[in-house]
Amino acid sequence: MLLFLIISVSIGIIQGSEYYGNFVGSLKNNFVQAEIYLINSTHLQVLNFHATTDDIADRPFVILSGNKRIKPKIYEYLHSAGGSWLKSRNDLQNLKGNGRFVVNAGSDVQMKQFGVVNKNGIILAQVELNKNAPKPFCCFEREDDMGLFGEYGIISDPIEVLDSRTLRVPNFSYEASKTPDGYFYAGTGATIDQNTGKKAAVVGRDTPNKICAITKDISNQNMIIRLDESQSVYDIEWLSVFCYQYSHDFGHLDLGLVEDEELVPPYIPEIRSFEPIYEAIQKC
Ligand SMILES: *[C@@H]1O[C@H](CO)[C@@H](O)[C@H](O)[C@H]1NC(C)=O
Ligand SMILES: *[C@@H]1O[C@H](CO)[C@@H](O)[C@H](O)[C@H]1NC(C)=O
Repeated sequence: MLLFLIISVSIGIIQGSEYYGNFVGSLKNNFVQAEIYLINSTHLQVLNFHATTDDIADRPFVILSGNKRIKPKIYEYLHSAGGSWLKSRNDLQNLKGNGRFVVNAGSDVQMKQFGVVNKNGIILAQVELNKNAPKPFCCFEREDDMGLFGEYGIISDPIEVLDSRTLRVPNFSYEASKTPDGYFYAGTGATIDQNTGKKAAVVGRDTPNKICAITKDISNQNMIIRLDESQSVYDIEWLSVFCYQYSHDFGHLDLGLVEDEELVPPYIPEIRSFEPIYEAIQKC
């Protein structure tokens, strides 16, 4: 019993820290249940979707905009051993258990309400989408027009937050060839050392199971970096260019984003046709 309590409390903590977007409301009646979050101005996220009636449309989600009714694109949000991914769904038949979905209304739609319809197109439940849509945050600065700054020529323009796990470091320079190793590194606490952060991946170069040191000089490049899956931009306090081997901070920027004040889009995994396969950590 005690063990069970401890496990459920720790699961609660993990889920509590996951960020889904701006919560707009719950659907909860005799037909359907779900929680709805805005991802950005075109997308929303449906959590714990569960229909308790058989009279539900094959494609049950609608976006209402004035008197227009839009059938959005629906993607199921799935977790596999190789990571999270989105799978396109043409219908929600054979849904097992509670479903999690990403819904794309399309680019020129003013999303006003989200609804769930039955086979005759009658709305069974709906929520108002009357909260602010999350958007990228610009920018974290050290001083005017400067983001990162440090040893070995490290400098960048101010750092933009694209989503809850993705940062853009524009115009980044770093004389990496003169250093033993160097990584983007994000974490919390007063000291920056091997225990207080996690390596971030350089998008387009690293993969989650293979994050390599930067070894070649970089001059005025735009870098997109992805935080470790255990972190979001709301729970890190600094971004460093860090020498892992000697546990040395070459230069860092203090960041602090408060969820109640700045809502950025939640990180959404990629749309795939097949589930990602598990790959063990690889050496560089
Ligand atoms: C990048 O930074 C250099 C100076 O370090 C500056 O001359 C250049 O205009 C910047 N480029 C962009 C695209 O901001
Ligand atoms: C909204 O988020 C989705 C999922 O990450 C993304 O594909 C889309 O481009 C975003 N839309 C806008 C307007 O930023």
